[in-house]
Amino acid sequence: MKYLLIFTILFYCIDCQKQQFTYRFSDGSKRKLEELKPNISEKEWEPLRIHFEYLSSNYNENYTSYITEILEMVSIFFYRFLLVKRMNEKITFKESYPKQFYGFQIMQSLMDQQYDADLVIFVNIENSTKFYKAYCGPTVYDELSLRPIIALMSWNINYTKIDKTNKIIYESNLESAIHEIIHGLGITYDYFSKYYDSVTGKNYENPNFYKQNNITYLSTPRLINFARIYFNCSNLKGIQMEDNGGPGTSDFHFERLLLYNELMTGSQLTGNLLITDFTFQLLQDTGFYRISDYKPDQSQWGRNKGCEFVENYCNNNNFTEFCYQKNIESCSYERTGQSICMQEILSGQCMYQQIYTDQFCKNDQNQVQNQSSQIITYYGSDSICLDGSISPIESYQKFTCQKFKCDINNKLKIIIGDLEFDCSQSGPIQIPNDFFGNLECPNNPENVCLFRNDCPNSCGLKGFCINKQCICSKGYSGLDCQQICDGYRYQGSCLQNCPNLTYPLDLIKYCIGCPGNCLSCSNYNQCTKCKSGYFLREGFCDNLLLDKELDSQNPEYINENNNPQSSDTNSAEIVISTNSNIFLMCIILFMLLY
Ligand SMILES: *[C@@H]1O[C@H](CO)[C@@H](O)[C@H](O)[C@H]1NC(C)=O
Ligand SMILES: *[C@@H]1O[C@H](CO)[C@@H](O)[C@H](O)[C@H]1NC(C)=O
Ligand SMILES: *[C@@H]1O[C@H](CO)[C@@H](O)[C@H](O)[C@H]1NC(C)=O
Ligand SMILES: *[C@@H]1O[C@H](CO)[C@@H](O)[C@H](O)[C@H]1NC(C)=O
Ligand SMILES: *[C@@H]1O[C@H](CO)[C@@H](O)[C@H](O)[C@H]1NC(C)=O
Ligand SMILES: *[C@@H]1O[C@H](CO)[C@@H](O)[C@H](O)[C@H]1NC(C)=O
Ligand SMILES: *[C@@H]1O[C@H](CO)[C@@H](O)[C@H](O)[C@H]1NC(C)=O
Ligand SMILES: *[C@@H]1O[C@H](CO)[C@@H](O)[C@H](O)[C@H]1NC(C)=O
Ligand SMILES: *[C@@H]1O[C@H](CO)[C@@H](O)[C@H](O)[C@H]1NC(C)=O
Repeated sequence: MKYLLIFTILFYCIDCQKQQFTYRFSDGSKRKLEELKPNISEKEWEPLRIHFEYLSSNYNENYTSYITEILEMVSIFFYRFLLVKRMNEKITFKESYPKQFYGFQIMQSLMDQQYDADLVIFVNIENSTKFYKAYCGPTVYDELSLRPIIALMSWNINYTKIDKTNKIIYESNLESAIHEIIHGLGITYDYFSKYYDSVTGKNYENPNFYKQNNITYLSTPRLINFARIYFNCSNLKGIQMEDNGGPGTSDFHFERLLLYNELMTGSQLTGNLLITDFTFQLLQDTGFYRISDYKPDQSQWGRNKGCEFVENYCNNNNFTEFCYQKNIESCSYERTGQSICMQEILSGQCMYQQIYTDQFCKNDQNQVQNQSSQIITYYGSDSICLDGSISPIESYQKFTCQKFKCDINNKLKIIIGDLEFDCSQSGPIQIPNDFFGNLECPNNPENVCLFRNDCPNSCGLKGFCINKQCICSKGYSGLDCQQICDGYRYQGSCLQNCPNLTYPLDLIKYCIGCPGNCLSCSNYNQCTKCKSGYFLREGFCDNLLLDKELDSQNPEYINENNNPQSSDTNSAEIVISTNSNIFLMCIILFMLLY
């Protein structure tokens, strides 16, 4: 039996009952941020240290132990990938700081402490009917760099499955935590107008965002440059932000139709989320962060589909990302599960293939043997949805999950028991004589291998998967984080010393290479030569030309008509509307969930 639990628990929503925008900056703090100008320091970029404190000591221990494990894992993630310029002193509570964050009182004992960290996150745990799994937002910023230094996070345990044995649930909780912390790092509407170029300390030439037909578009330079190449749309001017889901979900997240399962879209779908360069480039565009050695997840959604995709999505019925006939079943767009064509909260009028929760191929707990049909299936991180089925008896199914592998030349092979079938071309698989059924190799089989992001064993409850690599929790290494390791971790190995051309991060015992998109370097935070397409600016590689002098050397990058055609492009105004539609919106959300 197939069941669909569309996993659209919004990441960040409003308090419906009170109609309050609990996630916004307090007014005084916001006004001050608007007035401040960044003053950049000469300090080196160093890994981001996140420190967590629970707001109360009264939470159920079963929850805190699980959430602590999640938060410790994601702290390693952020230390591993993000760099900041550290402040001169430890984080201490100043008189001027608010005493309440998003309605939460901070205990005196927490305010009395000094925190040797770059970001302190106060964590609340609640069990409520409110329609969100978690939310997080910055509350205090450093007045020199404007970077958030204190944030608040709240977990709604009612929508957070605490299951210490299910890899998929564990991974989805890690994804939620990373998503929320990225908001806490300053990816929120309140901050958009304050992003600046960390090299010069100045604003970017064009506004950071603009509004068109009430929809927010982010237009920071690295993000736009990446998007132009990704979509093959050279005159793209802004990245559309979510326009559905209500305040707190809309505007704060990438548009679902544009980026689909990117981590920073507004809700969690069944299937995995991808941390792509859209998120990493945006983090660099804030001016607060740099990226160390990384390999972002690779997405196929809309890739190279041109400006028409970006502008029209499903409207002309000509993109396979979307589906056009309601309730038709098929394999999902990325072939990670069996799915049904429908709308959801964030899809607007478009429809796409939504994966049945129990037919998500990558979840090995979905593996059940149907005795009567004997249809052969395989669920696991290396499983793919194919059209057709195979069985030793006369029984058939339209779609099944099967094991696959990619050889070194990225040729796709399907594995059924001891048999291996070549799927380097699309078309039917030659089924052995003693089996019944039919199986089809996917169209564009090379894409399955090129855009594969899965990790062995989904990192086995001990790590986080990004672009085929597990980032393991402390004390573990190996390709799927199952080896105990008290040394340094590097590409699945456990080592006493970091290899040549890598640099140790002692706190998390990782060896890493050059900063993001860098070819050669003298340290993890000091690039000397960039990959082609990137430009060296103060030790890091940017995909853009911010400086006029560089523009003249590379005329193809000049685009005089770069301004969005909107009259309110400079508007950094935050409109807090309290109209009654919000209440209606929440009711709709609830109806969709149940
Ligand atoms: C920037 O910060 C430094 C160090 O705190 C200070 O000496 C300098 O006056 C500041 N510059 C401006 C323009 O505020
Ligand atoms: C925590 O979980 C254990 C085992 O499931 C249970 O026995 C215990 O009562 C729980 N503790 C609390 C405080 O809920
Ligand atoms: C938890 O969520 C369920 C729906 O999933 C809801 O019926 C229930 O009231 C919520 N519990 C609390 C305490 O809010
Ligand atoms: C949340 O609260 C409700 C009612 O108080 C309770 O039935 C439910 O078990 C709680 N959920 C969790 C995950 O603790
Ligand atoms: C845009 O928002 C304003 C106020 O929030 C509203 O009056 C107007 O109708 C909206 N326009 C569109 C096209 O939705
Ligand atoms: C990008 O679009 C142009 C036409 O606009 C096309 O000629 C070119 O082949 C496309 N490039 C890719 C990589 O798809
Ligand atoms: C999509 O459909 C529109 C309208 O039918 C057409 O103008 C356009 O060329 C099509 N685009 C592609 C990429 O097929
Ligand atoms: C098992 O297979 C039979 C025969 O194909 C089918 O009718 C039945 O729905 C299947 N059961 C499940 C749980 O998939
Ligand atoms: C590491 O670098 C040193 C000095 O450059 C060299 O002598 C040594 O052979 C290198 N080791 C490896 C394993 O490449």
